[in-house]
Amino acid sequence: MELAGRRVLITGASRGIGQALAERFAAAGARIALVARSEGPLKELADRLGGTAHPADLSDSEQLRTVVERVEGDGGPIDVLVNNAGVDNVGFFTHVSTADVEGLYRLNVIAPVELTRQLLPRMLARGQGHIVMMSSMAGVLAAPGYALYASSKAALNQFTASLRLELKDTPVNTTLVEVAYIVDTEMADSVRSTPGVGTASERFYKLHALVDTPMERLTGQVVNAVRKEKRHVRLPRRLVPYAVLAEAPRLSVEAVLTGAHWREHIDGPRPS
Ligand SMILES: NC(=O)c1ccc[n+]([C@@H]2O[C@H](COP(=O)([O-])OP(=O)(O)OC[C@H]3O[C@@H](n4cnc5c(N)ncnc54)[C@H](OP(=O)(O)O)[C@@H]3O)[C@@H](O)[C@H]2O)c1
Repeated sequence: MELAGRRVLITGASRGIGQALAERFAAAGARIALVARSEGPLKELADRLGGTAHPADLSDSEQLRTVVERVEGDGGPIDVLVNNAGVDNVGFFTHVSTADVEGLYRLNVIAPVELTRQLLPRMLARGQGHIVMMSSMAGVLAAPGYALYASSKAALNQFTASLRLELKDTPVNTTLVEVAYIVDTEMADSVRSTPGVGTASERFYKLHALVDTPMERLTGQVVNAVRKEKRHVRLPRRLVPYAVLAEAPRLSVEAVLTGAHWREHIDGPRPS
């Protein structure tokens, strides 16, 4: 998709990866729409990049229900949805509360799935669209302390794989982003410094199986994936074999489905 003039909605854009993605998409000529809870930083960034800010708590089901309507009502149709907002909340499962469980799955799973549900019929009707899912290598590599976080990202991986099959031969594409630690992000630092939880990554670093990814490499590859309609962004390269192995069963289903006709059985969008 040519990005000049296209409108890109980025969730979790008040800092970190979301902010860097907003800057990168804006530099590519896209018009950006930003969502997160922190109104001040969001508005500041939107003003600087000539975009729009839409403060919202995506873990609140009432606010989530109206986000797409709100954003499209203030600036026009969204061409690209970047589902980036997420929390890490790593720690041993015996220490988590009900609020931890609900909060993490609401933001990391329900919000991106629901935003996609709201936007997809509109994109299909308009004849173009792209959905980016910010997953993690944690969606493939399980480790102690990651039960909640890794399972939430694994859910995104399976969701995106199934959705991609449903969208085959439509003008809407998906990109699944599977990354490990990004240099200088609060999330990466806090995960690694949580006692006991960083043990697995320490061992990967020692084995030279893991290196941190610079932010510019990640954002450059995500923007390029939308431009070129690439299915995956996987970083760092030395972890790519794990993601490819996890993808193998999904690819075999895709191969088995070659020539099968199921699209005619998909109804139009159901009422909300
Ligand atoms: N950093 C890494 O090394 C790394 C590695 C792999 C994957 N990822 C994934 O990349 C994404 C971004 O990570 P990051 O490092 O940039 O995290 P971050 O610095 O903690 O930023 C998270 C963003 O999500 C927003 N957010 C949090 N709770 C929200 C809520 N309830 N409603 C709306 N927005 C909310 C935050 O803004 P407010 O607080 O203002 O709401 C912030 O803009 C996440 O999905 C993460 O899992 C990160």
